[in-house]
Amino acid sequence: MVSPMKSFNVTDSDSIPAIGLGTWKAKSGTVGKAVTTALNIGYRHIDCASIYNNQKEIGNAITKCLDGGTVKRENLWVTSKLWNNAHAARHVRPALERTLKDLNLQYLDLYLIHWPVHFRANITFPKGADGFIAEEEIPVMETWTAMEKLVKKGLIRFIGVCNFSLRRLKKLQEQAHIKPVMNQIELHPYLQQQPMLDYCESHDIQITAYSPLGSPDRPANLKKADEPSLLQNPVIWKIAREKAISPAQLLLSWALHRKTIVIPKSVNPTRLRKNFEAQELTLSPEQMELINTLDLNHRFIDGSFFQGSGSPYTTEDIWA
Ligand code: A2P
Repeated sequence: MVSPMKSFNVTDSDSIPAIGLGTWKAKSGTVGKAVTTALNIGYRHIDCASIYNNQKEIGNAITKCLDGGTVKRENLWVTSKLWNNAHAARHVRPALERTLKDLNLQYLDLYLIHWPVHFRANITFPKGADGFIAEEEIPVMETWTAMEKLVKKGLIRFIGVCNFSLRRLKKLQEQAHIKPVMNQIELHPYLQQQPMLDYCESHDIQITAYSPLGSPDRPANLKKADEPSLLQNPVIWKIAREKAISPAQLLLSWALHRKTIVIPKSVNPTRLRKNFEAQELTLSPEQMELINTLDLNHRFIDGSFFQGSGSPYTTEDIWA
C-alpha cells in the first residue's frame, strides 16, 4: 500500500514531494537498487549531486522505472547540485549537461549551488591553496545568471542553493531575477536554525533538511570524537516509544511538522519504507515543544573540510 504523498508548494501551481530519497553516501552497487525500491514504495523525489559520484547508477535506475511505467517523468522530482569547481559562468552549462547525461534526463526539477565555496575548474577537491578561488573572484550573481539562462532554456525548472547563510541568501534574493526557491541546509533537533526558517517562510523559499538523522554513516574524517548522537537521544527515544514508532520516523515527522522537506538517505528496503511512512504521523504540540528543547546549534557537516591548506575559506565565514 503506497502512502499518500505530502508535498509543499514551490509556486502556486508546482509542488515538491516532502520526503525525498537522499543519495549522499549511497555507494555504487547499492544506490540503483535503493532508487528502484524507493520509487516502487512511492517516493517521487530523489536528491542527487554530481559530487556524490553515483549519478549514472541513479540515472539507470530512474530510466528503468520510467520505461517500466513505475512512474511518469512529470510525477517525479529530481534535484541535483552544481559542484564548487564549476561556478564560473562558462562552466555552469557544461556541468549541468554532464549531470543530465549521467542521470539520463532531459531536464532537472531543481538545480542547486552546492556550497558558497569556489574551486578551480577540474579540481574535485583542492589539496592546497592553488586549488581554491576566493569568494569575491566569482560573485554569486555570475553563477546565478548562468543558472537563470538554463531555466530559460528549459533544462532546469527551478533553481536554488545549499548551505547558504542568511546573509548570503538575503543578498541573492535581493539581486536575483529568477528567485531562489530552495535553501538546502543541515537541519535536525540539534541544529534547528529557526531564523532561517522564518526568513524563508516570509520570502516563499522552501527549505530542505539534509542529514535529518544526523548522518551516522558519514566518513570518519567528517566525524568528531565527542559528537552527540541524534538517533540515540533519550528524549527522541522516549517519544518514539510512546508513539510506537522508530526514532528515525520521529525525527522525520518533526521535520515535516516544521514544513521542511526532508531527504533521509537509506539503502535498506525496510528503512526506506519506514522513512516514507513517517509522513503519515502526527505529533502533538507538546511533543514538538519537547523536541524543540534539544537544540545545541551543533553541525555534523560543519564545512571545516574547506579550511586549512592555505584555503581562503573559514567555517566562521561560511556560516556567518
Ligand atoms: P542505511 O542506508 O543503511 O539505511 P542521514 O539521512 O541523516 O544522512 O542518515 C543516513 C544514515 O541513517 C545511514 O547510515 C542510514 O543507513 C541510516 N538510516 C536511514 N534510515 C534509518 C532508519 N529508519 N533507522 C535507522 N537508521 C536509518
